[in-house]
Amino acid sequence: MPEAVPLKTTLPAGRHTLCCCGRTANAPFCDGSHEGTDSSPEIVDLAEETTIAWCTCGTSGVTPMCDGSHRNL
Ligand code: FES
Repeated sequence: MPEAVPLKTTLPAGRHTLCCCGRTANAPFCDGSHEGTDSSPEIVDLAEETTIAWCTCGTSGVTPMCDGSHRNL
């Protein structure tokens, strides 16, 4: 099985609405697919361009961001 690794993306400054339910077709951004679930998107305001590591393994405790938990798989 291939090792899970975070997906790094650089976002511009500004407000971003990030998927936390894993259903979006526009990852890492929310597309409204969480409707009807208990999940809600994470809204982040970035003061400057920022590189973020996104969880792709589903075990992070701080979704949608990677917290290094993939190393324990
Ligand atoms: S990819 Fe790192 S915690 Fe999921």
